[in-house]
Amino acid sequence: MNEKKVVVLGGGVLGTQIGLIAAFHGYDVTFWLRSESSISRTEPKITRYSELMLEDLDKAKALVGNPMGAYYYPRGLVKDWNSATVESLSELYESGKKNLSENVHIELDKAAAVKDAYIVIESMAEDVQAKKDVYTQFNDLLDEETILVTNSSTLLPSMFAEYTGRPEKYLSLHFANTIWKNNTAEIMGHPGTSSEYYDKVVAFAVSIGMVPLLLHKEQPGYILNSMLVPFLSAAQGLWANGVADPETIDLTWKLATSAPAGPFAILDIVGLETAYNINQMKPAAHQEGTTEYKIGKLLKEKIDKGETGVNAGKGFFDYSKTE
Ligand SMILES: NC(=O)c1ccc[n+]([C@@H]2O[C@H](COP(=O)([O-])OP(=O)(O)OC[C@H]3O[C@@H](n4cnc5c(N)ncnc54)[C@H](O)[C@@H]3O)[C@@H](O)[C@H]2O)c1
Repeated sequence: MNEKKVVVLGGGVLGTQIGLIAAFHGYDVTFWLRSESSISRTEPKITRYSELMLEDLDKAKALVGNPMGAYYYPRGLVKDWNSATVESLSELYESGKKNLSENVHIELDKAAAVKDAYIVIESMAEDVQAKKDVYTQFNDLLDEETILVTNSSTLLPSMFAEYTGRPEKYLSLHFANTIWKNNTAEIMGHPGTSSEYYDKVVAFAVSIGMVPLLLHKEQPGYILNSMLVPFLSAAQGLWANGVADPETIDLTWKLATSAPAGPFAILDIVGLETAYNINQMKPAAHQEGTTEYKIGKLLKEKIDKGETGVNAGKGFFDYSKTE
């Protein structure tokens, strides 16, 4: 067992970010990918996210001494902002850059990928059968002590525990997109997870710059999405029923709570396709006349116009001028 070895199953948007943040903080990281074509999709992500992380760390130097710095520094990269200086950030930049270039490997062979791993983080597409199949295939290849976690956003660990061959060492460790800035780690066991391994995952999360957020029981949507999804639905309902427009709804929220962003700015970050997919999962979205139906129709109109959010330069708000 190599306590510094981290393996990520899947090299998509989140898998890549998870592997890179672990590498940045000194772990030896192996991405297991299923095919050569996956390599050609993952390599550009490794390059892009490494650059974004280092760029944000570099920019953080200008925030030292600025009272607003505490709100904007890359929290997943800098563990102690209060004691950060331009010099300490420069050193961190250099060590992080070295780690990112030296500590990241790609492996197609399953046994070689997970050999001696301390922790294996499954971050494959949200496909129940594919996850079951992969857990079953890796079952006999993992070291006895290896911890296995899933980054699944919508599926519960109890759905998969029996396929892992190590239910007591299996749980959810759920990260957020742009992990180096939004450093949440929601940690959720299933009834068979042992407290010893739960605690090990908490310590691991801290060691890679995350803030561990502990769930005491299984909850679909964890903590964040259990609050965020109903909040965003309520805002969309006000819009779809013609009560108020997105600008006014966001302004109300920001003025009343001092929050930096309102629900429609958040929807632009999440992406309107994701909002639409969540909407379409509700039976009421397919019944004409319901609020959910109206929301789905309006979201679809915007998606068809290419107004899918921040990544597209336009969603509910226009981001083209801030480039
Ligand atoms: N994107 C997000 O904002 C986000 C945030 C938190 C958690 N998650 C979760 O992370 C996981 C991955 O999401 P993502 O956004 O990175 O997805 P993605 O579509 O970007 O990447 C999915 C990865 O899984 C691989 N994959 C798919 N099927 C496979 C199979 N059968 N065998 C092996 N590899 C396979 C793909 O090649 C790809 O590398 C999901 O469980 C998702 O719920 C996503």
